[in-house]
Amino acid sequence: MRCLGTLLAAAGLAAAQTVYEVERARTPIVIDGKLDEPAWRSAPPAGDFHFTWWKEGDKEQTVAKMLWDDDNLYVGFHCRDKHISAYVTQRHGPVSNDDCVEIFLSPDPEKAANYYTFEINAIGTMLNRCKTDWWKGPPTWEPEGVRYRTSFHGWAKKDESKDDDHWEVELAIPFKNFERDAANTPPREGDQWRLNLNRTGGITNRQSSSWSPIPAPRPQFHTPSAFGWVRFVDPHGKEEGRAIYNRSCTGCHGLDGAAGDRGPALGATRKYLRSSEEDLYEAIRNGIAGTLMPAMALADADIKKIVAYIRGLRATAVKEHVPGDRAAGEALFWGKGECGKCHTLGGRGGLLGPDLSSLGAERRLAAIREALTQPLPHVPRGYQPVRLTTSEGRAIRGIVKNENNFSLQVLDESGKLHLLLREEVSEIQYSPEALMPRDYQRRLTPDEFQNLLAFLSKQARGRTR
Ligand code: HEC
Ligand code: HEC
Repeated sequence: MRCLGTLLAAAGLAAAQTVYEVERARTPIVIDGKLDEPAWRSAPPAGDFHFTWWKEGDKEQTVAKMLWDDDNLYVGFHCRDKHISAYVTQRHGPVSNDDCVEIFLSPDPEKAANYYTFEINAIGTMLNRCKTDWWKGPPTWEPEGVRYRTSFHGWAKKDESKDDDHWEVELAIPFKNFERDAANTPPREGDQWRLNLNRTGGITNRQSSSWSPIPAPRPQFHTPSAFGWVRFVDPHGKEEGRAIYNRSCTGCHGLDGAAGDRGPALGATRKYLRSSEEDLYEAIRNGIAGTLMPAMALADADIKKIVAYIRGLRATAVKEHVPGDRAAGEALFWGKGECGKCHTLGGRGGLLGPDLSSLGAERRLAAIREALTQPLPHVPRGYQPVRLTTSEGRAIRGIVKNENNFSLQVLDESGKLHLLLREEVSEIQYSPEALMPRDYQRRLTPDEFQNLLAFLSKQARGRTR
């Protein structure tokens, strides 16, 4: 065992990580086997499943999404499938022989080996196990209050048909099932759990795929060390926190976290005295003795929302939850937005603008938004756009990287650096305006702009795990 682990670690496989931010559902979810509620539509997909043990046949993808509220974790699967079959109808039967989806869930990230399974076939037969070190019961397990529906729910059997195209599963798993292993039920914002989502079975094109890749030589979903990570987030709560803050705190602190007449700025990037969730909570609930900061008579839930809001103000973009479709943002970056013509990202792209590969780890979200929408008062050093003609009649357009009385260095639009003596230049025109357009709020639709922000904020190469 140890040997295999070492080999895998050496191959870099054990380090691969799959991460998903589970958003708090803003609107109710009806468990009917259809992922058509607004909450589902706005939830981001978890990303492609991996066909680690693929030999041949179609890699039919699964679009999985997750949501949460005070009571449940919600999981939705949309399975592309041209050959749908399911025959197991007995509770806890071998459903993975059929077309089947599975959730393997570790509520304690320090103890991934304590996990719970939910395996459901296309006609809605479920198998559950509690694979924890404290479970002394039978090999199967009866979770409390799980509600779920599949596209062929309750059918006596599902034979393959030429109309087969996809099937869906929608389920609500009450958090109370995990009280023994989870730090908090319901989870607190920012809590991380581990899990994997799997798909298996069927007669024709019988593939095994998983959301988080599993470095095992043969299909083995029971590999908790390879589970991905989910983080519970509540973007909407932060918005509410902002509203409560602006209502209750601006007598002393400034609007939107700025400095006020009698209190310090809570959103500025200085070294903070109090930055942990607990310390902030404590300061707001009990006040700060010996200072003007009073104990605030606010509901517990409201204080938590303000804390989330303040932490959001202080965090760099990568730590924030930025809604939007990142994949669409990426397409925009390289396509319509033409950002990639001037900017490098992950080793690819243009050289005229700064490398944006770790933008999200270096800048706050507000600064990124500003870079796209606020014109600069002057052209920054090292980015002065220029057009010149050499005495030989060659035209060059680019930016001045460096210049003195005798020479200049110009980076042209194709990324070539020109070293020119002044006497070789017959005509030169400096543009009064910076190269980068600063009105993307008008050039892009609101959706496009948001998707781009979602994508840019996650650029943190070499900065986060
Ligand atoms: C009566 C004025 C007053 C009101 C109202 C007030 N504060 Fe303060 N607050 C202060 C002062 C003054 C300090 C600085 C205390 C110190 O010197 O440590 C402070 C400090 C804080 C700190 C600690 C900052 C840090 O980094 O250590 C937090 C957090 C905070 N306030 C949050 C809030 C919130 C949230 C509200 C509204 C729910 C609020 N305050 C309302 C005056 C006020
Ligand atoms: C014509 C070239 C050009 C295009 C197109 C362009 N940029 Fe820029 N960008 C620059 C240059 C040059 C700078 C640095 C000087 C400045 O700020 O104007 C810059 C600065 C930035 C910054 C600030 C970087 C920092 O470290 O704070 C961000 C963010 C940015 N660009 C993102 C984008 C995005 C996103 C797009 C596409 C929607 C885009 N840029 C399109 C040239 C460009």
